[in-house]
Amino acid sequence: MKAIGVTAPAVTDIVLLDLPEPPPPGEGQVVIEVEAAGVGPGDRLLNTGGRDVGLRPPPHASGPATGRQRLLGRAGPGHRPPHGPRPPTHWNPSWRLHPVNGLTALQALEALGLTTGQRLLITNGGGSAGALAVQLAAAVGVEVTAAASPSAAERLRTFGVTEIIDCHDPAWPERARAGFDAALIAAPGTVASALPLVLDGGQLCSVTSDAPDPERGINSTDLLRTS
Ligand SMILES: NC(=O)c1ccc[n+]([C@@H]2O[C@H](COP(=O)([O-])OP(=O)(O)OC[C@H]3O[C@@H](n4cnc5c(N)ncnc54)[C@H](OP(=O)(O)O)[C@@H]3O)[C@@H](O)[C@H]2O)c1
Repeated sequence: MKAIGVTAPAVTDIVLLDLPEPPPPGEGQVVIEVEAAGVGPGDRLLNTGGRDVGLRPPPHASGPATGRQRLLGRAGPGHRPPHGPRPPTHWNPSWRLHPVNGLTALQALEALGLTTGQRLLITNGGGSAGALAVQLAAAVGVEVTAAASPSAAERLRTFGVTEIIDCHDPAWPERARAGFDAALIAAPGTVASALPLVLDGGQLCSVTSDAPDPERGINSTDLLRTS
């Protein structure tokens, strides 16, 4: 079995590892043939030795991964085999290439729980997580406004975004039509601008670890602290 990872704690070289084949799956387990795995800042924990995350070298890089189920272990009584989040019906198969940002977008939208016709503001709608959230939300009829880099504008228009606001304009919050049912914060430092634009009793979800305390009945979720 091939993997990428480090050979010992605090080793910084990422190498191709030749590992033994996995044992047959036990009760309630599956073996996944990985097609794509995400790599993020958390992976540095493995090779800096800065924090014991319970893995012993040679660990593979990253947690989130997508692939095909190769072997399925026996389901025990009352036990269902583990599954990742089920793809929504409008899932585009190419999104399996985005295990980290796709999962982030999907989980953020699940936390917001929007339905057709509701209005969503996404700060950094042109970023790697934001752009996937734009597409997932627009696909179910949510009206999306993206505060985004002008460099992303053309791409975002093809993704079904309703309105694009230049995030580099310091006056962007005034240019947004207030009264959003929800805000998805995907740019650090944008909570203070986005929160006043959300309706009383609305929703806010941050993927940048800066969800504010709830106010005006707005439900505030810090995705990275709850997932
Ligand atoms: N991607 C993920 O899977 C993931 C998962 C969890 C958390 N996060 C967090 O989410 C945040 C965004 O990450 P990302 O990977 O989605 O984005 P990204 O792809 O790194 O975003 C890059 C874009 O952000 C734009 N940008 C910079 N400041 C902005 C602002 N104030 N408002 C709107 N857009 C702005 C930049 O515009 P210019 O081109 O004009 O400079 C650039 O186009 C980060 O804090 C990250 O740690 C991401």
